[in-house]
Amino acid sequence: MSSQIIPVEPFDYVVFGGTGDLAERKLLPALYHRQRAGQFTEPSRIIGASRSPMTDAAYRKFATEALKQFLSPNDFDKAEVEKFCARLHYVAVDATSEKGWDKLSSLLEEGKDRVRAFYLAVSPSIFGQISEHIRDHKLITDQTRIVVEKPIGRDLESARSLNDTIGKVFKEEQIFRIDHYLGKETVQNLMALRFANALYEPLWNFAHIDHVQITVAESVGLESRAGYYDKAGAMRDMVQNHILQLLCLVAMEPPTSMDPEAVRDEKLKVLRGLKPINENNVEKLTVRGQYKAGASSNGPVKGYLEELEGGESNTETFVAVKAEIGSWRWAGVPFYIRTGKRLSTRMSEIVVSFKPIPHSIFDETAGRISANQLVIRLQPDEGVKQWLMIKDPGPGGMRLKHVSLDMTFEHSFEARHPDAYERLLLDVIRNNQTLFMRRDEVEAAWHWVDPILKAWEETGQSAQSYTAGTWGPSQAIALIERDGRTWHEGD
Ligand code: BG6
Repeated sequence: MSSQIIPVEPFDYVVFGGTGDLAERKLLPALYHRQRAGQFTEPSRIIGASRSPMTDAAYRKFATEALKQFLSPNDFDKAEVEKFCARLHYVAVDATSEKGWDKLSSLLEEGKDRVRAFYLAVSPSIFGQISEHIRDHKLITDQTRIVVEKPIGRDLESARSLNDTIGKVFKEEQIFRIDHYLGKETVQNLMALRFANALYEPLWNFAHIDHVQITVAESVGLESRAGYYDKAGAMRDMVQNHILQLLCLVAMEPPTSMDPEAVRDEKLKVLRGLKPINENNVEKLTVRGQYKAGASSNGPVKGYLEELEGGESNTETFVAVKAEIGSWRWAGVPFYIRTGKRLSTRMSEIVVSFKPIPHSIFDETAGRISANQLVIRLQPDEGVKQWLMIKDPGPGGMRLKHVSLDMTFEHSFEARHPDAYERLLLDVIRNNQTLFMRRDEVEAAWHWVDPILKAWEETGQSAQSYTAGTWGPSQAIALIERDGRTWHEGD
């Protein structure tokens, strides 16, 4: 079946932080793409909201510049951009005072029957104040939703309090907690692979799977986010959310349907089943790292501390963990996860390694028999590879060869690969929560992460230095190699 565009109901999308980095890089380009694909129904508006005063015309200019910068030149279509700009408005509102709220109110009044979404692309410290203003100005209709970005707290307690704050104003079904990894095409494909094929599910357990690896490697460094990142570190920034969500999709039981509650109930069970890591086992099961000066593909790069411009910091820019899930399905199967900044390359993938064959009928001249692996590549070069053994074609007797059934999406399909935000932004309008995190999931993730953070602090586990442009500290290699396994770093 070819791709299908199903238009959504008319909407008003209010983006708080409308002139910020996320709006510029991701939200505006994603909405533009959806308009271009013909998915909007008129009249639909996008309303940027931020503190500084700005006219609609200036906001349209800002958006045009953002699209110029962040769309590929082929996608920048002048007539389409003009049409997009015509639906843009701007209101200066202040989260901490009454300033601007009446104006936003009267603007929204014009669209009172449309789906209304408030996107909070702002610091979580003002989520509460914005929510209260929204309530006090009676901006919540039956068709209103609120979208919040991570970080949702910096530990269990602050996550609970943030959830309480938003929960005082909005019902859980109106709250869309975004984890953009869930909107990535290949992540959704993981569900298709697992649950639309009869092939994998019978093998998807401890009897047939040796271990799973999840790698989210980035080549970028701090990217002028020192203020946020140095307080967060890789565990809070990537593991608590993106990586645990990926782990959930790999490990969850088959939900009864794609119904949001059915899917999220199963993910929650995985999170609750993660075996605790605390001061007793933290040194054995986790590695923290911090990059020092090295090189990227563009030349020499500074170390983390130099990027911070002074000061000491033990913040981890790399983390590797050997996680286990206490369940019948996954008993004894390690999930090795790792993520880091300034690694050798930008590459995210999930590798499911099957157990070796129990007995070989071939003699030594046939060569080594490698275990089957399923590699799900999230980025770049999205695709799926199933590694198998075959007979090397041609004469010369039985020589075995490890090859992959390769489905690189770019080669296999003509369709454009939408950015994760495109799918998620419109799921909000469609009122579909399947790819968003429920409150209990976020809190369960913190429940597992908190003791690790605490144990690092208590045991004084320092961040091991690694050279920028490598695969992280040698201790991360030891973490997996002492179990007789290796990180997957090939194609
Ligand atoms: C964000 C993190 O959530 O995800 C960033 O805060 C990280 O530190 C980014 O760079 C990675 O996203 P992607 O889609 O580029 O892999």
